[in-house]
Amino acid sequence: MCGIVAYLGGRPAASVVMEGLRRVAYRGYDSAGVAVASEAGAPLEWLKRAGKISVLEEALERTPLAGYLALGHTRWATHGRPDDVNAHPHVSEDGRLALVHNGIIENYLPLRERLRASGHHFRSQTDSEVVLHLIEEAFQGDLAAALRAALAQVRGSYAVVVAHTDSAEVVAARHTSPLVVGHGDGEQWLASDVTALLPFTRHVTHLQDGDVVVLGRGGVRLTDLQGREVERPRELVDWDAETAEKDGYEHFMLKEIAEQPSVVRRALAGRITDDASDAELGLSLEPHAIDRVIVTAAGTASYAGGVGAALIESLARVPASVEVASEMRYRDPVIDARTLVIAVSQSGETVDTLAATREARRRGARTLAVLNVKGSTLSREVDDVLYLRAGPEVGVASTKAYMAMLTVLTLLAIRMGRATGSLDDTLAKRLLDGLVALPQALESALASRERIRDLAPHLAGARSALYLGRGVNVSTAFEGALKLKEISYVHAEAYPMGEMKHGPIALIEPDVPVVAIATDAERYDKTTSSLQELRARDGFVIAIASEGDDEIEAHASEVVFVPRVDELLSPMVNVVPLQLLAYESAVALGRDVDQPRNLAKSVTVE
Ligand code: G6P
Repeated sequence: MCGIVAYLGGRPAASVVMEGLRRVAYRGYDSAGVAVASEAGAPLEWLKRAGKISVLEEALERTPLAGYLALGHTRWATHGRPDDVNAHPHVSEDGRLALVHNGIIENYLPLRERLRASGHHFRSQTDSEVVLHLIEEAFQGDLAAALRAALAQVRGSYAVVVAHTDSAEVVAARHTSPLVVGHGDGEQWLASDVTALLPFTRHVTHLQDGDVVVLGRGGVRLTDLQGREVERPRELVDWDAETAEKDGYEHFMLKEIAEQPSVVRRALAGRITDDASDAELGLSLEPHAIDRVIVTAAGTASYAGGVGAALIESLARVPASVEVASEMRYRDPVIDARTLVIAVSQSGETVDTLAATREARRRGARTLAVLNVKGSTLSREVDDVLYLRAGPEVGVASTKAYMAMLTVLTLLAIRMGRATGSLDDTLAKRLLDGLVALPQALESALASRERIRDLAPHLAGARSALYLGRGVNVSTAFEGALKLKEISYVHAEAYPMGEMKHGPIALIEPDVPVVAIATDAERYDKTTSSLQELRARDGFVIAIASEGDDEIEAHASEVVFVPRVDELLSPMVNVVPLQLLAYESAVALGRDVDQPRNLAKSVTVE
C-alpha cells in the first residue's frame, strides 16, 4: 500500500527511482511523485502528478530532473483525495526538506492543529504532511536526529524516507510498513519491497520496526529510535529481474496464470519423500501436540486457506477452519498452546494477517506462515515458514501465488495426515502422485483459453454473476467470484451450491449467469440436480466439468472441460478457467487488468 523508492549514488537518481517505482506500482497507483537533489545545499526539485506513473513519466520527459539523490512515491490514498497536492513527496516551503510516507499517522489531527498554531502552513489534506513539519521543527543540522524527534510524537504506522539539502543523506525509518535497503558499490537504495531493487542489486537488508537508517556517501548506518547502533543481516535475494518482466505477454496477470505449471513444480521440489509416500517439509511442529488448526489470511490467500483447512481436516482429522484475519484479530478467539495458527500470505506484509498472527502468538499458539516473500515481516514473527517459491507476483489480482499456496497447503495436509496416522499409505501416494502430475493437468486447463474467450461476453455483459461449488471447491467459487469483481468490476457472489436454493436462486435471470463447478464425482447427482433447478428458471449456466463427463451438457448452457484429477486436488485445476474467465471478461470490457481501480496488492494499512 503505497510504494517508496529512494536512491543515493552515481547514477541518474530520478531515472533509477522511476524504474523502481514502476516495479512497485502494484502497491498503489492513484498518484506519484519524485524529488531530486542535484547537489548539496541546492534546493530540491520535484514533480508530482495525480494518476498512474505514466502521467509522471510524461511530465518528467518534458521537465527532466537531474541529481544524485532522489525520493519517489506511488500512492494509494488514505487521507486526502488523489490529486497533485496530496501526492508525495511532500516538500517544505523553502524546498530544502522532502518526505515520502507509507502508512497512517493516527494522531495527525491534534499534531496538525498544534503545528498550525505555531505558524506551519499545510498544503495537503494528508496525514503524512505532519511528519514533514515535525522534522522541520526539530531540524538543527542532523536529519536522523530530527526524524527521531518527529517520530517520538506520532502514533500509527510508517515507512518514512526523508532528504534535506543540508545533509547529502537519505534518512528513513519504519514501524509496521515495510522498507528494504539495497546495497551497491558506492550507491544505496531504499524500497518498499525487493522487486523495486531487482534491476540494480540483490544485496538487501530488511529493516525491522523501530529501525532508523542513514544512507550516506560513507555507506549505510543503522540505529534504533534512540540512536543506538543496531545490526541487521545482509541477505541475497534469489529472484532475478526477468521474472518481474512481462516476457511478451499482454499483461502480468496472463503471464502469471501461464506460469502456474512451473510454479507448482517449484513448490513441490524436494518436498516429497523418495518413496512418494509422505511430504518432507522440515517443520518443527508436532502434529500430535495440536488439537486444532486455524488458518488466517486476507483476500485470495483466505480462499487458499479455505481449501487448506478443508484438506487438513479431511486428511489429518484435526478440526481446522479458516478465518479472515481482519475479523480474527479483534474477535477474542479461543486459541491456546495446542492450536496451530497458519498465516497464509503472498507478501507477508498484510497488516491484518500480521495482527491476527501476533494475537495468536500472544495467546500461546504455534504459528506457521505459508508465505512467498523472503525477509518479509511475517517471516520473522512465526515459529515456522513454508515458502511458496512463486517468484515475484506483479499482477494485483493474485493467481500464481494462489496456486503455490494450494500446493504447499496440500503438502502440509498430507504431512499432518501422515503424522497423525489418519492418512494411509495408499491415499498419500495417490495424492502425491497426483500433485506431481498436476503441472501437466494445468497445461491442459490453460488450453481452454480460446473457449473461455468465447464465453467471456456472457460475464462481461452480466448484471451480476453467481459462482457455485461444493466441498473443497466452495473456496474455489469464492476465489473465482473475487477475481471477476477485482478486475472486471462485474458484481459476483459465491455460494456453496446447496445453499443456492436458500436465497440466491431468487436472483436467477438470463443476465445473471451462473458459473458452477461440477467436478465432484461423488456428489455428481446433487450437482446436476442443482443445475436443473437453475435451468428450470431460465438460468444461464457455465459448468466447469471433468473431461469425459458426457452427461454434463444436458445440465448446463455451456461447459468448460478440465482434466479429471482427484477431487481433493481439483481446486488447483478448477481455478484456472475461473482465472481466465475473469481475465478475458476484464479485457473484453477494456479494464486495466494489472492495476484495477481502488485496489493495491499489499495492504499495509487497516
Ligand atoms: C490485497 C490484495 C489481494 C490479496 C490480499 C492478501 O487485498 O488486493 O489480491 O489476496 O491483499 O495479500 P497477501 O499478500 O497477504 O497474500
